This record gives sequence, C-alpha cells and structure tokens, in this order.
Amino acid sequence: TITGVRAVEVLDSRGRPTLAVTLSLPDGSSVHAGVPSGASTGSREAVELRDGDPARYAGKGVLRAAGNVNGELADLLCGREFPDLAAVDRAMIEADGTDTKARLGANAIVGVSMAAARAFAAAAGVPLWRYLTPEGVTPRLPVPHFNVVNGGAHAPNRLDFQEFMIAPVGAPSLAEAVRAGAEVYAALRRRLADKGFATGLGDEGGFAPEIDAPEDVLTALVDAITDAGYTPGRDGVAIALDPAASEFYRDGGYHVAGERLSSDDMIARYEAIIERYPVWSIEDGLAEGDWDGWIRLTERLGQRLQIVGDDLLVTNPAIVTEAIARRAGNAALIKVNQIGTITETLETMRLCRDAGWAQMVSHRSGETEDTFIADLATGTGCGQLKTGAPARGERVAKYNRLIEIEAGDRMAYGLR
Ligand code: PGA
Ligand code: ZN
Repeated sequence: TITGVRAVEVLDSRGRPTLAVTLSLPDGSSVHAGVPSGASTGSREAVELRDGDPARYAGKGVLRAAGNVNGELADLLCGREFPDLAAVDRAMIEADGTDTKARLGANAIVGVSMAAARAFAAAAGVPLWRYLTPEGVTPRLPVPHFNVVNGGAHAPNRLDFQEFMIAPVGAPSLAEAVRAGAEVYAALRRRLADKGFATGLGDEGGFAPEIDAPEDVLTALVDAITDAGYTPGRDGVAIALDPAASEFYRDGGYHVAGERLSSDDMIARYEAIIERYPVWSIEDGLAEGDWDGWIRLTERLGQRLQIVGDDLLVTNPAIVTEAIARRAGNAALIKVNQIGTITETLETMRLCRDAGWAQMVSHRSGETEDTFIADLATGTGCGQLKTGAPARGERVAKYNRLIEIEAGDRMAYGLR
C-alpha cells in the first residue's frame, strides 16, 4: 500500500525541468524516482507533458505533470491495495485514457511507475533488479556501452552521427569493463588533445570534437583502444554506433558531412564502415519513417551485426511486433519513458526475447542521478546497457550501480 505520493519539479542533467517522484510507504520509509528526457525523440514516443508557459523555463516547465501526480494519481493510488506493479500501471493507463499518455503525461506516469517498482521490491525485501526479473529468465550484468564521442542533437559540433560507443565485450567482469571504458576514454582525450581538438563534453559526457566524417572518429577510437592496451574488436573492446539518422534525414535524403545520400548509399556506407572498423552494432542507421530502407539494411547486414531500432520502435510493443514480422532490424533499444510504464517496457522486452531479438537498455540524453536502468538491464538479463560516457555524475551513477550489484550479488557478466 502506498500512503503518500509527491512529485516536484527538479532539474535534469541539461538544466531543464523534470520530475522527482516520492512514494511514502506504510512503515514510514519512502521510495524515489527521477524522470529522464530525450532530445532526439521518436515521433511515436509517449507524450512528455510540458507546461508550454513561455514565462517559465522557455515553456519546458513540468508543473502540470507534477500537479497530475500530486492530484489525480495520488487520489488513484493512495490507500488502495494493488497485487503487483502491473495492476498499478494498468490503473494509471486507464485513468489517463489516451493511447499516448498525453493527458496525464508520460513523464508523470513513468516516474510513479519506476517508484512503484521500488516499492514492490522493498515490500518483497529484494533488490530492484531481482524484482524486475521475469519468470524463467536468468539475470546477468550487461555489457556497458560507453558513448565517448557526441554529435548530432547532443553536441554543438558539426558531427552528424550522434553517438560513438565503446563496448568492452571481451571483459571478464563488469568492473573490468568499466575500467576498460574509463581507460579508453582517457586515451581518447589524449589523442584528441594532441591533434588540437577541443575536449569539451556533449550532453552524454562524450567528447564533442569538430570532426566532420564519422570515419575519422572511428579511426581515433580504434587508436585510443590500442593506446589503452586493449584489442579492438569482439575479443576486446568493440564499437557501437547510434547515428540517430532521423535527425539528418531531410527532403528524402540523408545529409552526412556535406553529402546527400539515399537509403542505399547509407547502407553501402555502413557496409564499408564494418569492413574497416570493429563496429558490432548500429542503432537508428536509417530514419524512423524509412521502413523499406530498414528492411533492406537488415537483409544486407543483419547477419553480420546488430541492427537496433530506437526512434523506429520507441519501446512500443505494437511497433516492435510489426518490426519483428517485417524483419526491420534485429534488436530493440529499450527506454522506459518512450512507452511510459515499467510493465509495458517489460512486455516489449518479452516480445524481443521470444523473437530472438537482442535488446539494449538505454538512458536518455537528459538524465537524473536515478539508477533504475542499471537494475532493469541486469534483472532482465538482456546483456546490454548504454548510459553515456564514463564521466558526468548522472552517467557514472548507473555504471557505479552495476559495480555495486556485481560486488554484492556475484552473477554472470556479458552477452553470453
Ligand atoms: P535522446 O537520445 O535521449 O536524446 O533521444 C538517445 C538516443 O538516441 O539513443
Ligand atoms: Zn538512439
């Protein structure tokens, strides 16, 4: 039973307003959740409710969403018995009454859902990751994907691809994977500085150098991996990309480093990239509306690497079902606020497991110190988590949570 519900407007990692939700429990304790927020959002994501009052935070205030938690959702949840998290989430979805959570706000609903998961875990006396483990699934620590170079909507540089990640796939443990990530990050900083590039950071803690061609960044990454004493590739430290192509798709073309490319040109570009660099995963390589391109990309490269849908799928069970049927991609990015409840997030993850699709749990570019996703990735045994660079407190908090889980609970790490 929840005895109290409270949301306040606080700041996220970009200095924009977001919600902090607190649920009070009968024993006098409380549970807490911080709500993330994206910048390169998919058009079919659940709706984040913003005030639109230009006099406060340039319209980005969340007082209405906070009011919905403190009013309607508090009335709905306080003092009532719910058997499980699914029942809480169902009640909120029904109360909202829209397909997109637009009335109460997906930011309001997901904050309560995250905190409610913690309340059930506390009531069961188990860690959050254990509460989130589905029947028949073996929990395991994910391979961290460190986003070490930022472009696109996450940095003011001219780099079109949004994310260049390093994944210590070959690390023997989570702690060693974090160490590899931090050592390669430090080596990359030295490389960039030596070449005269600025080493300021983008929204997710990666460097944001003024480099045009994605291939030039990949060369620097391979060099940094080697400098740090690791082997580039699947036996050591592999590379993952999130071009976030919806952001550079305009007038029927992909605009990369001054060139205008068709879907097939983009696919050929990715094929050339994977011939030359140890890239093991590409997320949003094509735009969210380009389903035919996605199907061709998967046909052409899907046997050789992971093709992850983010803007394409928006963690939505119905859209993921369609993509599985049409073979558009072979993996899903998982973001709790794209769909708006933890129950629906777990449903999307189950659909992926059943179809043999891979999954990567993800933060948003606007984050808080909340570490929920570290537990989600571990508990569901999905194998992969991306939560930014090994720098900036809101990113590091998640990696540190994984280290704590590993130290306390000793479980398998990695993709297999
Ligand atoms: P976002 O970016 O949180 O700004 O949407 C993350 C991503 O595209 O994966
Ligand atoms: Zn993405």
